[in-house]
Amino acid sequence: MTDTPSPDLTATPREGAPPPNHHASHPGFSGLGGLVAALSFLSGRTHAARLAIELAELSELPAGVRLVDVGCGPGVAAQLANAAGAQVIGVDPAAVMLRVARTRWRTREGLEWRRGAAEDLPVDDGWARVVWSLSTVHHWHDVDRSLAEARRVLAPGGRLVVTERRIADPRAQGAAGHGWRHEQAEAFAALCAHHGFTPGTVREHLGQGNVLSVTADAH
Ligand SMILES: C[S@@+](CC[C@H](N)C(=O)[O-])C[C@H]1O[C@@H](n2cnc3c(N)ncnc32)[C@H](O)[C@@H]1O
Repeated sequence: MTDTPSPDLTATPREGAPPPNHHASHPGFSGLGGLVAALSFLSGRTHAARLAIELAELSELPAGVRLVDVGCGPGVAAQLANAAGAQVIGVDPAAVMLRVARTRWRTREGLEWRRGAAEDLPVDDGWARVVWSLSTVHHWHDVDRSLAEARRVLAPGGRLVVTERRIADPRAQGAAGHGWRHEQAEAFAALCAHHGFTPGTVREHLGQGNVLSVTADAH
């Protein structure tokens, strides 16, 4: 039990920026619309997956290293990590995303799909060496709880990798608003230090899909 108040970014966005989970009210992917979205996430996502592999330093980790993909969608990044030698659990709250992932990637050793959310990961304590979440934090319902969950499933020294599309225009609305402004990445990075991680490192990857990343290592 701690008497340190849990920081609540939803209540206190920095410098007037929206909180890192400004699309938390998204109703979730389901039905025909969800299927169309899942199919659309099968293409054009390879660059994001390759960037995550680089940020996780997967090539330097032993074969069979364990990785959790939080909000895996139809699984492009999860299967690439598996192809690179990792043992991967892809987690997503949307049944339609997991159905497309299972159909597209079939059964592969070391690649598993589980229904769940960032706030309540269906993964054992300390199981993972890497937890990543690509283009998903802006949908998390509860950033504090999700960071605590990421820390719980990571072994000490494990790495959290988060990426979001960089939004330059603060007035971006609708689909164009799914991503982060730089201040949101900074706020998320600072919050990592309250949940058993080193303060996050923010990077801009302008030539790699115009992406912002945060990496933080578990104590
Ligand atoms: C834009 S898609 C990204 C999918 C995949 N990570 C990619 O990069 O292609 C966002 C995903 O986050 C999932 N998601 C939404 N809320 C979530 C939550 N609270 N926890 C985990 N995943 C969530 C959605 O179901 C969806 O699959």
